[in-house]
Amino acid sequence: MKRLRANDPCWCASGEKLKRCHGDRSALQRPPVRRGVPAALRSVPESIARPPYLATGGHPTGPSGRQVFDAAGLEAMRHAGRVAAQVLLDAGAEVRPGVTTAELNDIAHDSYVRQGAYPSTLGYRGFAHASCISVNEVACHGIPDSRPLADGDIVNIDITAFVDGYHGDTSATFAVGTINPAADALVAATCEATLAGIAAAQPGRTINEIGRAVEAVARPRGYGVVTMYGGHGIGTVFHAAPHIHHTAHPSATAKLVPGMTFTVEPMLTAGREDLVSWDDGWTEVTIDGLISAQFEHTVAVTADGVEILTVTDDGTSAVTWPNAVVTAAGAGR
Ligand code: MF3
Ligand code: CO
Ligand code: CO
Repeated sequence: MKRLRANDPCWCASGEKLKRCHGDRSALQRPPVRRGVPAALRSVPESIARPPYLATGGHPTGPSGRQVFDAAGLEAMRHAGRVAAQVLLDAGAEVRPGVTTAELNDIAHDSYVRQGAYPSTLGYRGFAHASCISVNEVACHGIPDSRPLADGDIVNIDITAFVDGYHGDTSATFAVGTINPAADALVAATCEATLAGIAAAQPGRTINEIGRAVEAVARPRGYGVVTMYGGHGIGTVFHAAPHIHHTAHPSATAKLVPGMTFTVEPMLTAGREDLVSWDDGWTEVTIDGLISAQFEHTVAVTADGVEILTVTDDGTSAVTWPNAVVTAAGAGR
């Protein structure tokens, strides 16, 4: 799929070149995010059950094959998804200029505990917090820290809840105060791409179609799609097979079958899609310092479609954006 170039006419029909309109680098580059003091370590009451990898130093052992569930398993996945969605809404509601990402993590931490859930990331492979919080050019795996959010930032909060043996994983990007139109357009496209990818996850289709649908939203607007990370099977295992590519991957011919649960979580970038890691071993930033956005849902393939699991009882979630256009099922075909 062709990616729009700087001198091409902007996709928004302004008549301007992309670089003078939605590709304006000055509007997409914020003061660099600097490393802060990591959030204080918090514990979870012993009464809340831990995921199995906590017994092996945070390193998962045992099979991590694709996750496919019967009715009872899917009911448990809905519960975990509901809890994760609520944690994300609770933390997202506190996003505003001046709040530190450590404070947002505290709000998330309290919300998991209140709901009887364990934060899956806490102690996972050495990650020490209940959420990943990623600001501006931090694409993912940001460590909650002492940095106060600034007006014009975008911030992704990524939440994974472990409840009764099952994980639910969801994330959303939030605007801090007033963001510029170029940033708004990137986040809107990312939300649309996520929902288009989910809509393409129909039984009998291949995993390849998910990435194809994501790219069909991102590329014509000139955005990068991160390939270093993808979605993943999820269920009783946090990160399981299959790998969900967010770009077209014709070799990904495995068929989606009813009962399969996995995440769709594309990261779109305003510029280059390559990431580099900080020496904290976690934080992943875009190589050119331009902003990146991400949304994530945990979904289940059904007999005749796809069900989003990371929503509250009334079907709401933070995976939404004011001017995002929700495309019909089959987008990108
Ligand atoms: N929640 C992230 C995902 O979407 C995983 C975070 S793993 C951590 O898969 F170790 F960085 F927390
Ligand atoms: Co996640
Ligand atoms: Co995930």
